[in-house]
Amino acid sequence: MKKILAANWKMNLTNPEAQHLAQDVLSGVQTFLPSVQVVICPPYTALTTVRSVIAASGIRLGAQNMHHEPAGAFTGECSGPMLLSAGCDDVIIGHSERRHIFNETDSMIALKVKAAIREGLRPILCVGETGQERDQGLTFNIVERHVRSGLSGLSPEDDIVIAYEPVWAIGTGRTATPEQARDVHAMIRNLLKTIYPERYQMVPILYGGSVKPDNIGELLAQPDIDGALVGGASLKAESFNRLIEIAAK
Ligand code: PGA
Repeated sequence: MKKILAANWKMNLTNPEAQHLAQDVLSGVQTFLPSVQVVICPPYTALTTVRSVIAASGIRLGAQNMHHEPAGAFTGECSGPMLLSAGCDDVIIGHSERRHIFNETDSMIALKVKAAIREGLRPILCVGETGQERDQGLTFNIVERHVRSGLSGLSPEDDIVIAYEPVWAIGTGRTATPEQARDVHAMIRNLLKTIYPERYQMVPILYGGSVKPDNIGELLAQPDIDGALVGGASLKAESFNRLIEIAAK
């Protein structure tokens, strides 16, 4: 499986800034694109700008969230058909900031995953425990609940990516150790085996949480870590391009 490097720009970058960064990423990583799958997830406002920069380069475009209804009176929301028409391939769903700051529940996230699949978008379903849950020994229970509920009602052939992002490692500079990440990824893979016995090895499982050029190598060397979802280090072409270069090796 090709490694996947996904950039989550979060609520950062105006249109001109997004255009520059996308241009710098594209020009820096073109030679690695045959061996790494790159996804850029800008804020909604910059989707079409980034789409026009990356055009037919092979870099995929993702949104950071979506509403499960296709249209309607949901002020401030954005739907799957809208994302598709902006050129999206992927959509991050259930990011921990959505779960914890915007109170998204497992059932809302499950609806969004289903809606994304229905519209032909590939969901990047984020799962992961808080620091407190880890300290209480609940990591596997929480991650299992997130995965089971996020995948409920999907068919084995539905194209989906899972991102394990321990909440305590996001934006904190505290990366999970390769062993901590490996153990949870192995648990997710085993869980997938019980849900999708025919396809469990084809579902990419990304790691996210303070991924940087100096720690990505040992993370990607672990079995079942198929790539990374990167926040802070994706906001500078220098560091994101370096991550792609390392993942291409
Ligand atoms: P971070 O964010 O790389 O800044 O920790 C990761 C994410 O939130 O997806």
